[in-house]
Amino acid sequence: MELSICKIIGNTPMINLNVDGYTFMAKLECLNIFGSMKDRAVSYVLNTLFEKGIINQDTTIVESSSGNFAIALSGVCATMNMKCICVVDNNLTNINKQIIKQFGSEIIQVDSPEKNQSYQEKRIETVKQILSSNINTYWTNQYNNKLIQESYFTLAEEILNQCPQVERIYVPVSTCGTIAGISTWVKRFKPNVEIIAVDSYGSQIFGERIGRNRFTGIGSRIKPGNLKNAIIDKVVRISDYECIKNCQYLLNLGLFVGASSGATLAAIRKTKGYDKTTVAIFPDRGDRYLDNLYNETWIKENYFKLLEEDKIVYDNI
Ligand SMILES: Cc1ncc(COP(=O)(O)O)c(C=O)c1O
Repeated sequence: MELSICKIIGNTPMINLNVDGYTFMAKLECLNIFGSMKDRAVSYVLNTLFEKGIINQDTTIVESSSGNFAIALSGVCATMNMKCICVVDNNLTNINKQIIKQFGSEIIQVDSPEKNQSYQEKRIETVKQILSSNINTYWTNQYNNKLIQESYFTLAEEILNQCPQVERIYVPVSTCGTIAGISTWVKRFKPNVEIIAVDSYGSQIFGERIGRNRFTGIGSRIKPGNLKNAIIDKVVRISDYECIKNCQYLLNLGLFVGASSGATLAAIRKTKGYDKTTVAIFPDRGDRYLDNLYNETWIKENYFKLLEEDKIVYDNI
């Protein structure tokens, strides 16, 4: 049951960007209909499950997400007239809350996690409780889902078509579904293309946390199952301060994009990634970050903490 609105997901433009006197290509996934690259994952997964008869019109989709996956799920479920429950924590921004609610999804906010438990673990525990006490519910399990990984084959294919000479791709990571899909597809056809994962210092995907991870979309407090299918040549970690600085840089170029796009630009600049033909994924739009990254009051309140953390990060590497 593919709805026409889902048919326009994908085929996003790629543009040339000139930064520090060098050029690279940015894939504008922010131009998908619900605002991010997660639109690909959700529409592909739900349509596939529908076709296979695993879910139906009466199924309630449940997911632990307070970011783009929750927004994409809410949007696609609204078009399919299906129920959706998003399990969130107190890091949910007011903007995302409003978008999710406008699409008609239910929001369940978890309480404080127990000692030694992260909010992310607590959210997943809550999802499992919802599934066990409700019939005809389905967990899309974005941290470990082969279908989600597959949904990004189209993104990889578009990159190879739009930039056939590509030698290096920078991909911001959280659940690692995108990087698993892109790397699997790209390496199958062009094994020499380097895949660079862009992570946050506050993340535990590739090592210990150093500092915090304030923005949705980048970093994770758990090692996602999707990671085992990702073929990664290099990892670059970025501080929240670097995300902000590079988002401001992009804004001056007329690009109002999210934290992970800033992180991707920061990674390219940090690794001097201009020596090869480079493509960067810009996953979402800036409006999702009006409560923090693009909020003057928030920036003023947090600036010195961010700066201090950035210094600590650099003292540790
Ligand atoms: C804005 C943004 N960037 C990057 C990512 C990372 O993608 P993935 O979860 O597939 O690793 C996400 C995931 O939610 C995201 O929303």
